[in-house]
Amino acid sequence: MTTEVSLRDVRETDLPIFFEHQLDPDATSMAAFPARDWDALVAHWTKIMSHVNISVKTINFDGQVAGNIVSWEQSGEREVGYWIGKQCWGKGIATAALSQFLHHVKERPLFAHVVKHNVASIRVLQKCGFTISSKGRFSDAQGVPIEEFVLILT
Ligand SMILES: CC(C)(COP(=O)(O)OP(=O)(O)OC[C@H]1O[C@@H](n2cnc3c(N)ncnc32)[C@H](O)[C@@H]1OP(=O)(O)O)[C@@H](O)C(=O)NCCC(=O)NCCS
Repeated sequence: MTTEVSLRDVRETDLPIFFEHQLDPDATSMAAFPARDWDALVAHWTKIMSHVNISVKTINFDGQVAGNIVSWEQSGEREVGYWIGKQCWGKGIATAALSQFLHHVKERPLFAHVVKHNVASIRVLQKCGFTISSKGRFSDAQGVPIEEFVLILT
């Protein structure tokens, strides 16, 4: 595991970095999640940073902002999600960050929805103890059907 990974509270100065991370077309197609424009991103982060029922952390790697990790409630279930800047991929950062975050968010079961083609994210979750519990389908912004797995940590 990468030992240089740490989590801290999100600062407003992190937002331009998160903005750049989610603009990357490889990342958005991997996650099947469209990029937000700046105003939408600020509105989204302002909401989640102040929400009592949402846990969110900035992921630091060697003192630099590498991404973010968040847990929220959806349809009565507690979810987890994360995003790592492309320049930091493949270094074990998401795995280390999720494993630390699981000590912070103690509610179980914990769920993650991951599109089937996001092999890296599925691997991250499985390395942290999640297992595939079901399959689902949704339509992306263009109406294209996308298959997903729901993973669970009990
Ligand atoms: C998915 C994501 C979080 C992975 O982050 P990361 O820090 O590179 O992940 P890690 O380095 O901790 O681990 C990735 C694991 O997946 C594997 N992996 C990476 N790319 C892979 C690929 N294309 N196919 C198969 N395995 C792959 C790695 O080898 C590693 O497994 P290993 O330790 O057994 O070798 C990152 O790519 C990302 O943020 N993508 C865009 C946003 C996103 O998809 N978020 C998740 C939404 S559910």
